[in-house]
Amino acid sequence: MTVILVTGGCGFIGSNLVRYLLEVEPEARIVNLDALTYAGNLANLADVAAHPRYQFVRGDVADRQQVWEVMRLGVTDVFHLAAESHVDRSIHDATPFVRTNVLGTQVLLDAARAFGVRRFVQVSTDEVYGSLGPTGAFTEESPLQPNSPYAASKAGADLLVRAYHHTFGVPALITRCSNNYGPYQFPEKLIPLFITNLLQDEPVPVYGDGLQVRDWIHVRDHCRGLHLAWKKGQPGEVYNFGGKCELSNLELTRRLLRLLGKPESLIRFVPDRPGHDRRYAMDCSKAQRELGWSPLIPFEQGLLETIRWYQEHTEWVAAVRNKEYMNYYQRQYGTLRAATTSTRLAAR
Ligand code: NAD
Ligand code: DAU
Repeated sequence: MTVILVTGGCGFIGSNLVRYLLEVEPEARIVNLDALTYAGNLANLADVAAHPRYQFVRGDVADRQQVWEVMRLGVTDVFHLAAESHVDRSIHDATPFVRTNVLGTQVLLDAARAFGVRRFVQVSTDEVYGSLGPTGAFTEESPLQPNSPYAASKAGADLLVRAYHHTFGVPALITRCSNNYGPYQFPEKLIPLFITNLLQDEPVPVYGDGLQVRDWIHVRDHCRGLHLAWKKGQPGEVYNFGGKCELSNLELTRRLLRLLGKPESLIRFVPDRPGHDRRYAMDCSKAQRELGWSPLIPFEQGLLETIRWYQEHTEWVAAVRNKEYMNYYQRQYGTLRAATTSTRLAAR
């Protein structure tokens, strides 16, 4: 029997992945190990909580005893997603990033080795490659040049995965994906933050000049890629996933404003993120060639569906925008004011 451990299954991508695996792997049991940090939300999987092939365990990936207990449930395969995932928070305090992302990965790799798992999928990010100039794209051969504490902690984890495969033969592979969007994303990330603000006619904070470029991919396309990497990928290999959809933050913001029928006066230019990476873009030809994967969901369609999802899930949004979130928001953005908006916009 296949027993798949998904770590971080109560987060954005993890919850979409758990649902996807239950759908496409009708014989497999799914165990979700999640510590329920601020980003973990049981409501993200409320619809499958009672599913006969699904089991939730609250626990910390960096806690050896808890991980060993979960492995004893008969785990045969691992998708490792549990992480501290937000760049801005890693700039405030890198400590939980190193603990969860680096130490947590090492504990899981030790467990994978001890229990002889069949496949270990390390879910990583394009941010480990650093930043691009105006042209070109990251390949799997690009050097690791992480620029934020978050990216550095993910690169550290990736290097441990590589070493455990090389030294101990742990059958692990790494996937690196660009910026995801879609349902259940915590509104600290650009797209859900801006949608939820705009739905309340609140301003949206654009960092710096807003001309940084990200490559957007729908979370379901990412989940399909993870599943294919698990099924067809080779241990020791790296696979890039991207959405073939490069947009500057300002273009994306304007698109969101248009789709929601809101005025450009809601844009606030705020001080830039320290060390802000200018541009990411992914070359996914290896995944296409070796896994038969390419992104399928057009951005226009995915974005409209995502907006609709946030419009229809007002209770989810209200619960997530709680006191803890508001404290974070205040610390990160202060009180957004009209300030220089019109002059900055006029300059463009
Ligand atoms: P998220 O912040 O929404 O979810 C992270 C989940 O991990 C939460 O449920 C949280 O409770 C859990 N978690 C945190 N620390 C834990 C610990 N010590 N033990 C157990 N569980 C813990 O993150 P996400 O956006 O869904 O990202 C998931 C993974 O995908 C991360 O590894 C991230 O680096 C990677 N990734 C994300 C993106 C993206 O665009 N969001 C892109 C590429 C890769
Ligand atoms: O590229 C993959 C990565 O994408 C993942 O590894 C990370 O886990 C995920 O958080 C995401 O990182 P980014 O930093 O790119 O995502 P974020 O949504 O925070 O920011 C996207 C862009 O928007 C980035 O250039 C910063 C900018 N931004 C973000 C926020 C939150 C703003 O201009 N204003 C904001 O308020």
